[in-house]
Amino acid sequence: MVEALINVVGLENVLYGGAEKVRFSHIWATDIPLAAKGVVFPQTTEQVSEVLQLFNSHREEVVIHGGLTNLVGGTQTTSNQWVLSLEKMNAIEEIDESAKTITAQAGVVLEQLIEATAQRNLFLPLNFGAKGSAQIGGVISTNAGGMRVFRYGMTRALVLGLEVVLPTGTIISSLKKIIKDNSGYDLKQLFIGAEGTLGVITKACFRLYEQPTSRYAALVGMQSFQDVISLLRMMDKNLSGNLSSFELMWNVTYRAATNADTAQSPPLPQDYRFYVFIESLGNDLAADYILFEDGLTRAAEKELIVDAVLAQSKREVEKLWRIREDTHRLRQSFVATQHFDISFPIGVMDNEVATIVNDLEAFPFVERVLPFGHIADGNIHLIVGKKDSKQQNSKKINEIVYRNLKKHLGSVSAEHGIGLDKKEYLYCSKTSQEIALMKTLKRTLDPKNILNPSRIF
Ligand code: LAC
Ligand code: ZN
Repeated sequence: MVEALINVVGLENVLYGGAEKVRFSHIWATDIPLAAKGVVFPQTTEQVSEVLQLFNSHREEVVIHGGLTNLVGGTQTTSNQWVLSLEKMNAIEEIDESAKTITAQAGVVLEQLIEATAQRNLFLPLNFGAKGSAQIGGVISTNAGGMRVFRYGMTRALVLGLEVVLPTGTIISSLKKIIKDNSGYDLKQLFIGAEGTLGVITKACFRLYEQPTSRYAALVGMQSFQDVISLLRMMDKNLSGNLSSFELMWNVTYRAATNADTAQSPPLPQDYRFYVFIESLGNDLAADYILFEDGLTRAAEKELIVDAVLAQSKREVEKLWRIREDTHRLRQSFVATQHFDISFPIGVMDNEVATIVNDLEAFPFVERVLPFGHIADGNIHLIVGKKDSKQQNSKKINEIVYRNLKKHLGSVSAEHGIGLDKKEYLYCSKTSQEIALMKTLKRTLDPKNILNPSRIF
């Protein structure tokens, strides 16, 4: 197998025989050497196809690696699996300013794509904490969300075309730049959010927007969840479409986030019940500022918000958002953590979160629960800080967090996916008929079950 792989990609593009141990399977665990038969770095789509044909004909299992920021075990491997890394397929192939699209290979880091579009005064609205490491193949495979979903949709809404290699080696190329295409099944959607189980994404074409010329941000302190909902509606209406992010942090999470950076003092005092990070993106620097400031003033007059800080420069905007984006810091004070990304209708969110936090903190092995998230999308994250990483304790925690999802028609994963970690709870979000159809698709496209095996189910 090693010889055959070297024949396809060249000696310098295969790590094996112990050399693969310099690699790792998650960006937060760079000290744990990769367990795998080896790592292959293809440089072209044709090479991906040949490598997959080899793996498929020899029934070798292969796990796809991108930026390794997945939060549900999607990039974990065992010593009898190969790794296919897309990181050497990292070229931006084209920016089409008239069609307003960018086409790039799967290994391009999201932030580089965002910067390349900004240089042409165009805008890729994807925005989440992992953007500096996440590669677009993984971003699409997990249908990543983030902090502007409320306005621009998930990754799915931004992908116009894809090139994918099926587990059997067939190349499916559809790098279309058109927004409207009703010529039968929308096949690209099969692979978006499929967590790499149905094919390897090698290239993608994204839809772009006009680059906003104004970006304003504020952090507000609030005392009731009902006020948070009212503020969301009010800002949505009063900002004339400029509202682009509306992110909530519970008090305990704000404290943890602002205490983590001892070099900075918290932008607002730490004793409000809720904190909302608000972003406005628009195209009229002066008028947008007035809209934003007026919106906040009106909210203050109605006593929805009790305190606010409005960022005054690009640097301040970025500093404010870093508090929200750097979720990595929230987990560092705990021995072990569990991450959740559930969704509920916004109306039941407050009660559900309060009950979950209460019940979890009653366990002696739970240190603290930190809730925050994309409240405008009905998506909440919980970081559960624990005193140990015992399997039976994780299970008890899962059961509390997931117990009311079905009742409220929520989701076990609003954005991080199922991976290895959430398989047992897929039934909370999908019916048995849906799961059966998903399995039929998997069997049809990957009959030997070689590609990202045992992820999702
Ligand atoms: C976030 C990631 C954890 O919202 O999804 O920060
Ligand atoms: Zn998130």
